[in-house]
Amino acid sequence: MKKEKSCCESSVDANCCEPISAESCCQPIDTESVEEAVKRSYGQLWASQLAHKSASSRKKLASMFTAHRGLLKELKPREGMKVLDIGSGNGETVLTIAEKVKPNGKAVGVDFSPEGIELSKEKAKERELEDVAEFHLADAAELPFPDNTFDAVISECVVSLIQDKQRALREKVRVLKPGGRVIMHDVVTLAPMPKSLRENRKLYCDCVGGAVSLEEYVEMMKKAGLTNIKTVDFTKGVKKMINLDVVVKALNVKDDKTAQEIVNFARKGGVGYALLVGTKK
Ligand SMILES: C[S@@+](CC[C@H](N)C(=O)[O-])C[C@H]1O[C@@H](n2cnc3c(N)ncnc32)[C@H](O)[C@@H]1O
Repeated sequence: MKKEKSCCESSVDANCCEPISAESCCQPIDTESVEEAVKRSYGQLWASQLAHKSASSRKKLASMFTAHRGLLKELKPREGMKVLDIGSGNGETVLTIAEKVKPNGKAVGVDFSPEGIELSKEKAKERELEDVAEFHLADAAELPFPDNTFDAVISECVVSLIQDKQRALREKVRVLKPGGRVIMHDVVTLAPMPKSLRENRKLYCDCVGGAVSLEEYVEMMKKAGLTNIKTVDFTKGVKKMINLDVVVKALNVKDDKTAQEIVNFARKGGVGYALLVGTKK
């Protein structure tokens, strides 16, 4: 069976920012806030893709970051739907959805990285999808849309990067039409994470340090006004990436103790990957 890839897995595999910097893509600077580190890290990653001017090489690069098939299967995008993708990154997921919802639907992406938005807009133009695919520079905590706008709000590997997850979930629900669904894929913790790993910025930027348990996500979803909550554990599909020492090498963790802690935590099955779905009342 073909293995599904998460964006985080791909970024680890690809050592994504090598073309523009000797640092790995999510190498934080200590004086930055966590949010600034995330913004800068992903900004570098999307800028490295923006530097490739040909549509074919952009597509090749983006093939490492296409929407997780499980999410699209759950979403079932169809003509006329209005879908919002929070943390749309290089725009690949939005553009995939735009092909399905055109001509009357809308696929909208939001990201706080200006480089990601610029890249996504260029790609929409290249693929003649500008009428269906929109991209907005905005923070997940303050979405620039009226209440009850979308049929579905999705996110992939993004909520784990947001500190105030409850607020971000409330915003998702606010812009969702009644009966619409929040569908998210994210890293989850399957055991309590050691404090040292929680505090490791690099791990945070790689979607692991800020991850919470499935139960915590479900609780937050309920509090945000979602019902009929369903969770699907995709951990097996990404097990190879989260259980190997090679991940630590790719993460470029300099200190051996932290590296060992990451390996131990992953070996004990501490990191998982899940799909979470909820419906607005
Ligand atoms: C791991 S990438 C995932 C990109 C895309 N969803 C994918 O699956 O390829 C995380 C993205 O979320 C964006 N992001 C993180 N926190 C955000 C926030 N608070 N508001 C908006 N975008 C955010 C980052 O800029 C980055 O583009």
